[in-house]
Amino acid sequence: DVIDVRPLTGKGLFTYDPGFVSTAACESKITYIDGDQGILLHGGYPIEQLADKSDYLEVCYLLLNGELPTEEQKKEFIHIIKNHTMVHEQMSHFFNGFRRDAHPMAIMVACVGALSAFYHDSLDINDAHHREVCAFRLIAKMPTLAAMSYKYSIGQPFMYPRNDLGYAENFLHMMFGTPCEEYKPNPVLAKAMDRIFVLHADHEQNASTSTVRLAGSSGANPFACISSGIAALWGPAHGGANEAVLTMLEEIGDESNIAEYVERAKDPEDPFRLMGFGHRVYRNFDPRAKVMKATCDQVLKELGVENEPLLKIAKRLEQIALEDPYFVERKLYPNVDFYSGIILKAIGIPTSMFTVIFALSRTIGWISHWSEFHSSPNRIGRPRQLYTGPKKRNYPQ
Ligand code: ACO
Repeated sequence: DVIDVRPLTGKGLFTYDPGFVSTAACESKITYIDGDQGILLHGGYPIEQLADKSDYLEVCYLLLNGELPTEEQKKEFIHIIKNHTMVHEQMSHFFNGFRRDAHPMAIMVACVGALSAFYHDSLDINDAHHREVCAFRLIAKMPTLAAMSYKYSIGQPFMYPRNDLGYAENFLHMMFGTPCEEYKPNPVLAKAMDRIFVLHADHEQNASTSTVRLAGSSGANPFACISSGIAALWGPAHGGANEAVLTMLEEIGDESNIAEYVERAKDPEDPFRLMGFGHRVYRNFDPRAKVMKATCDQVLKELGVENEPLLKIAKRLEQIALEDPYFVERKLYPNVDFYSGIILKAIGIPTSMFTVIFALSRTIGWISHWSEFHSSPNRIGRPRQLYTGPKKRNYPQ
């Protein structure tokens, strides 16, 4: 809607677009989405091809640099990332301040924000190399912090990163290894984990990325900006949906109950929504959801649990919803979060860590957008509002 607010601002017209449905706030070369066709490209490469042929660290390089690395560049990039995997020993003390039952996303908001206290003074955000080093640190340290938040919650000692392992394998080692027993990552599960990282790596100006860009536009410390992104991601309408999907599937409990939940989702009086369904931009299949569904089948087969009841419920629910005129008319399809939770659960990751894994994966998208913002002429983000409060009045005598 274009609303004439000249009487209010004296400065001509501005657009009123709640939810930013049709307002572009920036230019970007990183990611392209065609929501009607269900297309997602990073640096021009289709997500399906990246998920199949590439790996997470290569996608990180692509998002940061706009090009895939040569073999030599990839080797060097991996070497640099491995140099940064440990967190400052002081960081481990932060964890002790939290209750054991604190949500790991709360811990991540705090601990990633706390990194700003370690890398602040010498940081020049206008220097491309400094920005690059911030990205390296974040890519490398997010799995370490994520795993620490889990280990803390179960009362086990933190595991140091192992640089002889691949990125996803190292994460699984820090999650599931103990000083008493080495964790030997199953290559199929490690590949699935890596694919989950790839599928979540970036998605242009979603709520959390826009939050990071806006926070960054004031010149704030990048680690603090990423912390704001983690906070925005946490909500169930965004990254928190993967946790909510699994809770919903468990609550449905049996295929015979699906119809009741679908009816509830359609009832305008009931706030319940089918979690993992619908997307602001996709009015077609989310291309990431298709890859996720296939990966889910592979993982459950590898583990010999193809008949996992939650998968059966999910598939049946998808089928019922896709045939229901309510979902068809509104173009509501499964999104990336619909099948990811089943894979994570099968790998042994607890539900409360699902959104943390999303945050870990999305950090590269956030920091790439933050860096892109600072690499070109920019100004502070400052949305306007449509004032609907009282007119000027006098304070009571
Ligand atoms: N279940 C039932 N109805 C739905 C759902 C759903 N999951 N999603 C949207 N609708 C309905 C709305 O009620 C609305 O109906 P109406 O036109 O009769 O009022 C219509 O579809 C349009 O929905 P909006 O809320 O306007 O869509 P919006 O683009 O604002 O929201 C969102 C998108 C937040 C993703 C929404 O679809 C939703 O809440 N989905 C469930 C949560 C979820 O899965 N989030 C993850 C998103 S992907 C991600 O962040 C990685």
